[in-house]
Amino acid sequence: MTLRQTVVIVAVTIGFAGTGMAWAASSAEVGRRLAMDGCSTCHQVMLAQKRPQPVFDPDQAMTISAPTFAEIARKYRGRPDALRRFILDPKHPMPEQDWDAWDLRAIVTYIGGLPRGSISRGR
Ligand code: HEC
Repeated sequence: MTLRQTVVIVAVTIGFAGTGMAWAASSAEVGRRLAMDGCSTCHQVMLAQKRPQPVFDPDQAMTISAPTFAEIARKYRGRPDALRRFILDPKHPMPEQDWDAWDLRAIVTYIGGLPRGSISRGR
């Protein structure tokens, strides 16, 4: 293989890796927005947000506080499939939501990318 061919292959490989990383980053950004829309009435998604009110569970006739996203990220670290399953088939009083596969993946990517034990401050 010539040096020129090697350079081309390396450049293409780096290009693909870069695209993958950019995809993961933008997917997490989309996930954050979806989570603010779909989860933040009950869950503290970001630090800037006031901790939401506990949710009434008619089955147990009591109110239950939803865990913060920091707690969720800790509990499900390295287990995106389990997290996805829970969101699709949640325990009461968390409602079932109808997510399309891409949006759900974005939310799971966002939660999986939260720094250990914390939620993002910004925006
Ligand atoms: C209407 C309120 C509500 C909404 C909206 C909601 N949740 Fe929940 N969620 C809860 C409550 C309450 C619990 C605690 C359930 C329990 O412990 O019985 C919970 C628990 C969870 C858990 C913890 C499961 C565990 O193993 O402890 C995860 C993960 C979760 N929610 C993710 C989400 C995500 C992601 C969204 C948005 C896509 C969302 N929830 C939207 C109320 C909500």
